[in-house]
Amino acid sequence: MGFISTLFIAAFLLDSAFALKLGQTCVSDGNCDSGLHCETCLANGNVRPRCTRTRPVNPTSKVKGLPFNRYSWLTTHNAFAKLGAKSASGWPILTPTNQQDSITSQLNNGVRGLMLDMYDFDNDIWLCHSYGGQCYNYTAFQPAINVLKEVQVFLEANPSEIVTIIIEDYVTSPKGLTNVFNAAGLRKFWFPVSRMPRNGGDWPTVEDMVEKNQRLVVFTSKAAKQASEGIAYEWRYLVENQYGNGGMKAGSCPNRGESSPMNNTKTKSLVLMNYFPDGPDVTQACKHNSAPLISMLNTCHEAAGKRWPNFIAVDFYKRSDGGGAPEAVDLANGQLVCGCGNIAYCQANMTFGKCELQKPVVASTPGPVARDSSFANPVSRPLQLLWLMVVLVVSIL
Ligand SMILES: *[C@@H]1O[C@H](CO)[C@@H](O)[C@H](O)[C@H]1NC(C)=O
Ligand SMILES: *[C@@H]1O[C@H](CO)[C@@H](O)[C@H](O)[C@H]1NC(C)=O
Ligand SMILES: *[C@@H]1O[C@H](CO)[C@@H](O)[C@H](O)[C@H]1NC(C)=O
Repeated sequence: MGFISTLFIAAFLLDSAFALKLGQTCVSDGNCDSGLHCETCLANGNVRPRCTRTRPVNPTSKVKGLPFNRYSWLTTHNAFAKLGAKSASGWPILTPTNQQDSITSQLNNGVRGLMLDMYDFDNDIWLCHSYGGQCYNYTAFQPAINVLKEVQVFLEANPSEIVTIIIEDYVTSPKGLTNVFNAAGLRKFWFPVSRMPRNGGDWPTVEDMVEKNQRLVVFTSKAAKQASEGIAYEWRYLVENQYGNGGMKAGSCPNRGESSPMNNTKTKSLVLMNYFPDGPDVTQACKHNSAPLISMLNTCHEAAGKRWPNFIAVDFYKRSDGGGAPEAVDLANGQLVCGCGNIAYCQANMTFGKCELQKPVVASTPGPVARDSSFANPVSRPLQLLWLMVVLVVSIL
């Protein structure tokens, strides 16, 4: 065993001497370049830990000033349902979880769409992953205000960023949502319903939204709250494909029941693409968030009247076998922002679709990173050999 630990230490020392690139074999997150982390994807047969992406390119860092609906945002399904979380109710949580990190960490990684399930619970508004419209001690995560305050801190610290919250809304207490958003200090960032287009036209530009400090877009699933609380009724403004297993059938992208058909370009300016199974699965997520996600991106583009999704919603957004959900967002942004295959090709003031002259800044590989791509880089060779030796020694023992 001493030999193996020596190997691990040697691998670590070698590893930390340089920041590893996408697809290279790694030992820990710290070895990888920023925006990457170190993991395996056993579901795809990738047993070697490699640097995989956790962060999309911020599209407004490339091209500013386009309408809000000309960008795509990484979106986390049940953003609050964190793996291993303890319920603030003091009870064990007996409900599935969908993400691996906190809202603050998600936002810092470039997540800009948060799907939150909100319930009346314990005389307050809570985030629960529950059923039957009712929250229980064992399905309750925490009071919504905690997470909304994290959003508030992020918006305060990042004055040019826009965050969208999509609420699966079970709150029936009068002004329940209004009160909790106000208490979290988020009112000042509110993007008013009156500025959301209902004729399929463009949204205000991100520049305008930033200038007016209207940087929080909120949608509810309860129609009545648009009139009573000024919270936009989601299905008036966006189309959304079927969620869960029904949304993961290759080659089809049907709208979910509450949504207009995906191809409703006449009245809905935003497109949201769901891609996650009925039961969240941390082990399979790396596979789902890789080639099949990119494939569904293309399928939904066709189904949505040749529109690329503005929101790409997944479980375990950090899991993939390479580029993952961040890559999918980069591809959608390339198309939306400059008419090219990746946001890396976009530049300020370029002609839409004139991509051939542009050099990508980051490697773009639609679908999974080739299994052996890192062998092409001589720098990673010692690591490859070390891993091979570790695997050999372990299998002998
Ligand atoms: C939650 O648990 C507490 C005790 O820990 C109990 O008083 C309360 O009634 C429970 N709430 C629900 C909705 O079951
Ligand atoms: C829009 O999609 C529906 C299916 O949801 C289809 O029946 C209809 O023909 C499509 N309309 C157009 C104009 O493509
Ligand atoms: C793009 O064009 C605008 C207006 O003509 C100009 O102000 C800006 O500096 C240009 N940006 C770049 C990066 O060339």
